[in-house]
Amino acid sequence: MKKLLITIDGPAGAGKTSVSRALAERLGYRYIDTGALYRGVAYEVKRQGIDPENDVDLAALCSRLQLVFKQKANELRLYSGSTDITDRIRTPEISMLASAVSAKSLVRDYLLDVQKDIGRQKAAVFEGRDMGTVVFPAADVKFFLDASSQTRAQRRYQEIKSNSNQSLKQVEKDMQRRDRDDSTRSLAPLKPADDAIIIDSTDLSIQEVVDSMLSYIARRKG
Ligand code: DC
Repeated sequence: MKKLLITIDGPAGAGKTSVSRALAERLGYRYIDTGALYRGVAYEVKRQGIDPENDVDLAALCSRLQLVFKQKANELRLYSGSTDITDRIRTPEISMLASAVSAKSLVRDYLLDVQKDIGRQKAAVFEGRDMGTVVFPAADVKFFLDASSQTRAQRRYQEIKSNSNQSLKQVEKDMQRRDRDDSTRSLAPLKPADDAIIIDSTDLSIQEVVDSMLSYIARRKG
């Protein structure tokens, strides 16, 4: 069976993570969360006390960074060197810092190579913001997953409420700011690729989205 490279882009809270994970499982493919890589850079920026606006220090950090995904018990874990940082990169502070470092061209250039390298063997579902537009413009199937902003904030709130004391209002405000920053930045702004299949998940379950994607993929394979 032909191995495909599938991309899923879209704003925060559209359901990309759940959908990408489920789709990869159904296809027996690897699931790659590229947002985790930006969060990994942000985590190291914070841990090492680097000023994200200082390009010299940021470039030096990227040149010594070793961000690697490892599959552990059916789960994708992110390592920085030998430290598992998966559970440390989901805080509101790292979310905001990840958005800031993701606007830096030297960070994007560094991660472009990391991502292309992971994609070489295909048979993967890549989740991110610029997968179909910049990183894998020749991907076999491209999806852009969206949902209303209230639905997205509500979903993100449910996801983080056990380890954050942010209110729904605060989550909504942060999300709007990140959306604006991510889609108006000059570098790789968040937008669907011209040949992306756009799916609105506002009124759909994860299963319904995955089923709809599988039917597009089946057509593509056929
Ligand atoms: O999907 P996420 O919330 O984990 O992403 C964290 C940040 O990284 C988000 O603000 C956008 C940025 N990002 C990006 O610019 N390009 C990607 N391919 C993935 C994430």
